[in-house]
Amino acid sequence: MSGVVVLGGAGGIGSAVVRALLAEGRPVAMVDIAPPPPDLAGVPWIRGGATDPAVIGAAFDALGGVTGLVHCLLSEHRAPFAEQTTDALRTVLDIGAVSALEPLQQLAARAGGKRCAAVLVSSIHAGLAWGGQAPYAMAKAALEALGRAAAVELGPLGVRCNVVRPGFVMVPRNARRWRDADTREALTGLQPLGELAGPDDVAGVIAFLLGDQAGFVSGETVTVDGAMTAALPEPPP
Ligand SMILES: NC(=O)c1ccc[n+]([C@@H]2O[C@H](COP(=O)([O-])OP(=O)(O)OC[C@H]3O[C@@H](n4cnc5c(N)ncnc54)[C@H](O)[C@@H]3O)[C@@H](O)[C@H]2O)c1
Repeated sequence: MSGVVVLGGAGGIGSAVVRALLAEGRPVAMVDIAPPPPDLAGVPWIRGGATDPAVIGAAFDALGGVTGLVHCLLSEHRAPFAEQTTDALRTVLDIGAVSALEPLQQLAARAGGKRCAAVLVSSIHAGLAWGGQAPYAMAKAALEALGRAAAVELGPLGVRCNVVRPGFVMVPRNARRWRDADTREALTGLQPLGELAGPDDVAGVIAFLLGDQAGFVSGETVTVDGAMTAALPEPPP
């Protein structure tokens, strides 16, 4: 089976994707500025910024043939709208969305007309405003638009491209932020399924979209939030 480049493969969701793909027998190369978790020590890791085309090229080179790509990078700048800066917006947009262009182009070029697939990890923030997260929301909306354009324009070259929109996911980073019981209870209370998602809940959907069973799914956005954003706020009694 040919390989998959995972951008952000050392992160909470990214590392879960790497494990899910390895379990399917797919070779993986990770790009990340941070070291991967110890259990992934044997997996090729290209250390560097995903906005650097040379780093992306090295990740593709690390695998014999590449027919899969996952964009799973986190970049955010939390601040009230009145205090946001254009610099912050540009940085978050660059890492969160613009960085997907070069790898998508390389995927199409290197697959040489063979069927291949990309999954871009967005967020429910792409469609909903949340205090202090304007740059993140903007970048995720842009990433989704880029993904649709890739699905349409690279489709004739054999590339499928889909977007996954997670809700609140209990990755290690969030486990630290949400460590107090009241916060966890409040967040869990928003979940129709009565619990927060784990990284594997998102990784399984990404692996499915990369695989042959999703061979005619492209240009799609799949929300993985346990119906949290399907709910209207309850009116007062
Ligand atoms: N965790 C959640 O609740 C949640 C919810 C919705 C969407 N998401 C999305 O899922 C994806 C993964 O998020 P996560 O929660 O696993 O975050 P995370 O911080 O655990 O992982 C992100 C990884 O990206 C790497 N990274 C950041 N900038 C980079 C750069 N320029 N070059 C290379 N690597 C870089 C980080 O080092 C990190 O390992 C992100 O796109 C995020 O927006 C997460």
